[in-house]
Amino acid sequence: MSKRFYITTAIDYVNGHPHLGHAYEKVVADVIARARRSLGREVFFLTGLDEHGQKVQQAAVAEGKKPQAYCDELAAVWQAFAARLNLSHDDFVRTTQPRHRQIVQAILAKLHAEGHFYRETYRGFYSTRQETFLTHKDRLPDGSFDPSWGEVVELEEENYYFKLKDHQSWLIDHIERNPAFICPDARRNEVLGFLRNNVLEDLCISRPATRLNWGIPLPFDPDYVTYVWFDALANYITIPAAQGDPGVPGPLRPPVSPGGHPLALWPADVHLIGKDIVKFHAVYWPIMLKAMGAPLPRQVLVHGWWQKDGQRMSKSTGNVVDPVAVIDEWGVDAFRFYVLRELDIGPDGNWTEAGFEARYAAELANGLGNLVNRSLSMLKRYRSGVVPGVAKELAPDAERAIAETLSRLEQNQLQGALQAIWSLITRANQYVDQTAPFKLAKDPARAESLDQVLYSLAETCRILAVLLWPFLPDTAGKIYAQLGLPGAPDRAAAARWGQLPAGHAIGTPAPLFPRKEI
Ligand code: MSP
Repeated sequence: MSKRFYITTAIDYVNGHPHLGHAYEKVVADVIARARRSLGREVFFLTGLDEHGQKVQQAAVAEGKKPQAYCDELAAVWQAFAARLNLSHDDFVRTTQPRHRQIVQAILAKLHAEGHFYRETYRGFYSTRQETFLTHKDRLPDGSFDPSWGEVVELEEENYYFKLKDHQSWLIDHIERNPAFICPDARRNEVLGFLRNNVLEDLCISRPATRLNWGIPLPFDPDYVTYVWFDALANYITIPAAQGDPGVPGPLRPPVSPGGHPLALWPADVHLIGKDIVKFHAVYWPIMLKAMGAPLPRQVLVHGWWQKDGQRMSKSTGNVVDPVAVIDEWGVDAFRFYVLRELDIGPDGNWTEAGFEARYAAELANGLGNLVNRSLSMLKRYRSGVVPGVAKELAPDAERAIAETLSRLEQNQLQGALQAIWSLITRANQYVDQTAPFKLAKDPARAESLDQVLYSLAETCRILAVLLWPFLPDTAGKIYAQLGLPGAPDRAAAARWGQLPAGHAIGTPAPLFPRKEI
């Protein structure tokens, strides 16, 4: 059994509806997953929902619902959303599922038995919104707490703590020795700076059930539930464990049921997350794993945050991008294209309607759409849709774009890969203008030249479908169908010049991205 490429996303809090930020992260993960499959790897792509904790409990209470019923209703919305985004996930975890709960309890029991936890009374300030205790360092110069913490209350309670101090030096060492562990570099430096300049505080991993009961009970003390972040981070390994993954330490893994098919997933290859939750993933999570005796993930890949029109998105001001509305109006691939092309993985982005419409018109409708439509329409009109003999006029351009795209994909450089693909689209559109096939068609003596142009264009369209597959799977599939080719363009190995056979009859051309009156 060979290990699969295992990629995860953050699991979203199920206390509202999905927005642009959630959609962006899931689409990025989907492109990486599809790209690896296309490049020949077996992949496991996991996404899902974070359903426990105070936020969700409060949201349920506010709607007069039981937390589980509330989660079930919203989970259906989020799963439908994943389908709207055309995600190719292999599993969808919900932290209220028994398969997750059982293994979280097994992890807690093991760590408790091995002396990683202790019980202590704490008096201090607590942010319910962020579900975290605050210290004096979190105070503003005037002594107050930043409004982003929401309501801050003073609490005194007894809780269980996870000893973190002993882990600080090996973690620094690990991050220093493995430059790819936290990407991009700016995030890695941030984590290293934090670890070098602060002594890690022990992590409170419980909440008294009297205050919060919407969580996984501690197996060794039923008066407490598990801190939501401990529960949520564990999802990355509970799902492999539930699949009988041999990479998960034996005591945490239930026996494989007869007839079951264990998968080799752990360690994760990529944990894709947003910049606000780096500390959880690059500090707490590796320490949890080390304590469990499990290998560390290969990479925490951190993306930036989207704003709209230069402002933070917020429901209260109505300044949000609703991905479902965009997809209804423009199609899922237009949405995927804009976010992937506009924003590289790392920096922050800014959504503007004008920017979206400009990219749609220039790059999708006039660029890709126009190229495919005119190439196939001319082949239909001048050669009844039958592919002429193999020609090589655009072969060098295509080969350059293929090499560049595939190498970018191997490095998860999605924006760079799209730039490489569009360089071929631009070149091919220029080629149509330069060779003027509509003029060649009027001169029977130039039939051979016309054959060469038509072949070169059709073959370029086929290769584009293969390169575009991870990004725009629907569009890539449509290009293949219009070319009359069976199956999906989901194998990068098919991106080689000259595979479109002479004599092949194409299908029916149709516009891919209709022009819109704006
Ligand atoms: N439930 C936790 C994650 C637990 S992972 C073990 C959580 N949920 S969240 O719903 O608040 O955020 C989910 C993901 O969406 C995070 O990676 C977060 O960074 C990302 N985004 C939320 N808003 C965003 C933007 N405006 N822009 C881009 N990504 C954003 O945190």
